[in-house]
Amino acid sequence: MSRANARGTLARMERADAAQRLTELRERIHHHDYLYYVEARPEVADAEYDALVRELRELEAAFPELVTPESPTQRVGGQPVEAFRPVAHRVAMLSLDNAASPADLREFEARLARALPGAAFAYVCEPKIDGLGVALLYARGRFVRGATRGDGRVGEEITANLRTIRSLPMVLRGPLAALEEVEVRGEVYMPRAEFAQLNRGLEEAGEPTFANPRNAAAGATRQKDPAVTARRPLDAFLYHLSSAPGLPVASHWEAVELLRGAGFRVNPRTARCASMDEVIAYCARLEAARDALGYDADGVVVKVDALEHQRRLGSTTHHPRWAIAFKFAARQATTTVQAIEVQVGKTGILTPVAKLAPVELAGVVIRNVSLHNEDEIRRKDVRVGDTVLIERAGDVIPYVVQVVAARRPSDAEPFQFPDRCPACGGVAFRPEGEAYWRCTNTACPAQLKERLRHFGSRRAMDIEHLGEAVIEQLVERGRVKSFPDLYDLGVEEVAGLERHAQKSAENLVQAIQASKGRGLARLLNALGIPMVGERVAQLLAARFGTMDRLLAAGERDLAEVHGIGPRIAASVVAFFADATNREVVARLAGAGVEMAEAGVDEGPRPLTGKTFVLTGSLPGMTRDAARDLIQRLGGRVVGSVSRKTDYVVAGEAAGSKLDDARRLGVAVLDEAAFLDLTRQAS
Ligand code: IVH
Repeated sequence: MSRANARGTLARMERADAAQRLTELRERIHHHDYLYYVEARPEVADAEYDALVRELRELEAAFPELVTPESPTQRVGGQPVEAFRPVAHRVAMLSLDNAASPADLREFEARLARALPGAAFAYVCEPKIDGLGVALLYARGRFVRGATRGDGRVGEEITANLRTIRSLPMVLRGPLAALEEVEVRGEVYMPRAEFAQLNRGLEEAGEPTFANPRNAAAGATRQKDPAVTARRPLDAFLYHLSSAPGLPVASHWEAVELLRGAGFRVNPRTARCASMDEVIAYCARLEAARDALGYDADGVVVKVDALEHQRRLGSTTHHPRWAIAFKFAARQATTTVQAIEVQVGKTGILTPVAKLAPVELAGVVIRNVSLHNEDEIRRKDVRVGDTVLIERAGDVIPYVVQVVAARRPSDAEPFQFPDRCPACGGVAFRPEGEAYWRCTNTACPAQLKERLRHFGSRRAMDIEHLGEAVIEQLVERGRVKSFPDLYDLGVEEVAGLERHAQKSAENLVQAIQASKGRGLARLLNALGIPMVGERVAQLLAARFGTMDRLLAAGERDLAEVHGIGPRIAASVVAFFADATNREVVARLAGAGVEMAEAGVDEGPRPLTGKTFVLTGSLPGMTRDAARDLIQRLGGRVVGSVSRKTDYVVAGEAAGSKLDDARRLGVAVLDEAAFLDLTRQAS
């Protein structure tokens, strides 16, 4: 039916027919919303769904008196409000008692047993969603009112805002739909992925971002204009049937099933546990899985299953006695910035670090947190004296989420990045286009200490006992000015340092001597060449085998190594071009430090000086394998053919490079001839 036709039909439609069709359309749309938003398994294509909504809108436009508040078209229909109306909760929305450990959970069970001697308890466990508690009222199956928790007794009416949450049913199904009045409770939250997307959008628009999904969800539910809420990606899990008079329900588990059957989103991780052992295992499993949940959960809510037990246990004014929240280790905390220090790294990079009033986070006491660089400090506007929200999630290094603006002291000044190295007073410099300031003094003792610490670290020369305190003294006394000095240290001398007994001096000297045999890869990592970390060091060692060969290599040779780009190549060449660095290497070699990598072929390198170009695909080997073979035998692989090219190795579908070779008279090899050459050569 065309649209014009549809309108014509609408105008002639009887009111009674329209009412019937409206009911039908709304039911179908509710059904599809349920499949899409609650079960995430839509049955119809978007176009088909859109057609239903369009028909509904047109019919409602023709019969405005038939529009109902729970119609799918009314999800964003509310008018902006001046203020939220207070709502007195019929049953108080209580808090939960907390358990921090399995022992606390056992104690909870012991309390239950004391209160109801002889009872056998089963439990229901649910993720504790870090969102906003809400209470929803349905009258004869229709959503009539939604409220925030507020202070637990009186909340705020946010019906229009809650309607915008597409997974919240406007019309119930099953036994709950028949009741005069039903109250359910749950948590409104913002999924993590949507939160990240929202923040990206806000950031691009130059607007302030939210610190976490909970704050974003809180902001959205308390919008005065429901149209704004509708644009914020909220969702909800329902977990409590707080009032369903007249319905026989024996357990929380049954209540959850009723919620599910009525069309509510119920957390799929809800589980029934027959014993406290099972509860404890559930808590451990969920804590391990918390990063994979897609939403923030800060613990597990453990509830006694039998409603008869719940009734007999009752509540305190603060919390029900039949439930407890097992809290995961905290990941966010607030603390104050006592100072901002600038630390000097091994290559002279100056890193600002916030010194914090110590605070425990996920089982670790945090005293420092990196502020990364000048731009980061400016972006977050972190100042000395500020209260900051810090987070440490999983393996992530702690970081400042944001400053708590309301708690900024009136005299807090913006942080001024120093233009001198705080350690040596040398000139600090921020190169154009870089985020970092650097100390330009190569003799800076702070850099030296950092370099020594790195030199001895586990993945570099692995020198046990070369701790910060020793390094500090060796540098301050001028005894160690560069790496090779370490290898001249004698036991007596080390024993003369503060807090060094004879035995520990022996251990350190022995560890230093033992580090001589670590091999080229570790040595290259240890030298602290800019842009050369463990992986690049391994690639270089595997490729060149000895320090001499590496020193002889030019930028182009280096850049040919798979995994090493031109910037790294340039950095390596620049490092070894420096006379001081060359002398360091020579002295290390003189001290007996191993300059080769064990296991790297040191056989003949007969292709030395020969230049190859690879083109087309070879039948029996990949291009990478061919390149590796040439390089291992000392040859070079370049990208284009010139008169200086010795060989072009051409496979299937070779293109213009083959033409160039012919034109310039360069020898062309197929795979067989190439392999012959390498065999003759070796
Ligand atoms: S049950 C009487 N179950 O945690 C029933 N609460 O700290 C008490 N919460 O106010 C609530 N997930 O907002 C319950 N699965 C869950 C929950 C949950 C999150 C919130 C709720 C409550 C707060 C208590």
